[in-house]
Amino acid sequence: MTDFLQPVRDFLACATPPEWVSAAVQDVPLLLQDHANCEKKAASTAMNMLFRYNERDQLQTELAQLAREELLHYEQVRELMQKRGISYRPVSAARYANGLRQHVRTSEPGHLVDLMIIGAFVEARSCERFAAIAPYLDVELKRFYTFLLRSEARHFQHYLGLAAAYSPTPIDERVAHFREVERELIESPDVEVRFHSGLPPARASAYAPASMNAHNSSERATCLN
Ligand SMILES: [Fe+2]
Ligand SMILES: [Fe+2]
Repeated sequence: MTDFLQPVRDFLACATPPEWVSAAVQDVPLLLQDHANCEKKAASTAMNMLFRYNERDQLQTELAQLAREELLHYEQVRELMQKRGISYRPVSAARYANGLRQHVRTSEPGHLVDLMIIGAFVEARSCERFAAIAPYLDVELKRFYTFLLRSEARHFQHYLGLAAAYSPTPIDERVAHFREVERELIESPDVEVRFHSGLPPARASAYAPASMNAHNSSERATCLN
């Protein structure tokens, strides 16, 4: 598992804070609903780009497949929810995606390149968070999230490759900019717990499972920037 997770961890500025993990596993039904929403949104975002950038061959090929996979993930999360008797409930979106989108350039091709870079960060963070929570979930969910890791790691690479392919100049500076924005969204206090939320409200950390602190403090030590 480490092999394909390493590029994801190298790409992100910081690991998920252990406080988020301890809060997230307290309400698995909420997490699953938010996850279902995220998969549906990921498919929709890819579809929007398919319509917007008709002339971009590589994008059409890669995002058509990605959109299909995200919808499949959506179906899989819903199946798990149904099996567990978890019915739909409205869950507001995290601040995360909008926080990143605020920095997208308005003119092309910068707009497209920035959207691809954001896609890479969203996929990379999803992948990293699946790995972070898997050890604290039941056998079925642990297996599910471990299985999803591979797809999201691949999606991260596709988005990053598309950003580089469509940028007339090296993308390092834009990646560095979004890396810092993303780190801030992950490490600053947030008002709610979602798949991509920041530090949870303080009360959540009181429930940290005993085995968690050792595991995640070492993960957090891998913070790169
Ligand atoms: Fe997905
Ligand atoms: Fe994905």
